[in-house]
Amino acid sequence: MERTYIMVKPDGVQRGLVGEIVKRFEQKGFKLAALRLMTPTEEHLKQHYKDLAEKPFFPGLIKYMTSGPVVGMVWVGKGAVTTGRKMLGATNPADSAPGTIRGDFCIEVGMNICHGSDTVENAEAEIALWFPEGVATYEKSEDAWLYE
Ligand code: PPS
Repeated sequence: MERTYIMVKPDGVQRGLVGEIVKRFEQKGFKLAALRLMTPTEEHLKQHYKDLAEKPFFPGLIKYMTSGPVVGMVWVGKGAVTTGRKMLGATNPADSAPGTIRGDFCIEVGMNICHGSDTVENAEAEIALWFPEGVATYEKSEDAWLYE
């Protein structure tokens, strides 16, 4: 079953939005496989965002992401990566539809509350980076009321 890495960024944690974000993923039907409050090092974040190292906003992104604790989560379910990104909304909250997490709770791209993996491959790499000890698994039989 597909897995995605969702992270509540420092502004989302400080503003008390962790429960709201967890609630939305639970209500959608995804299963929580890991969740941890953590204060990542600059090095860890540089690894997570390594593809963005040349972007002009990279230093600001690292500063923002090290400004407080984050909550990393792994969610499991059919289409978790694509649907998870839809639930977060467009990266720039100015373009995020109402009803999405960013569309409902934030204004600027430099403080956009949450991260979601953009591909299945990146999701697996991010899960390995943030939860190297592994994550929980579920028995398929528990999904009888979610999948055809
Ligand atoms: S890009 O340029 O298309 O590769 O960037 P994008 O895919 O839109 O965003 C990648 C991540 O960078 C964050 N981002 C920013 N942070 C701070 N300031 C600015 N201006 C900015 N622009 C993009 C964006 O939120 C993405 O972070 P994640 O954690 O993946 O959501």
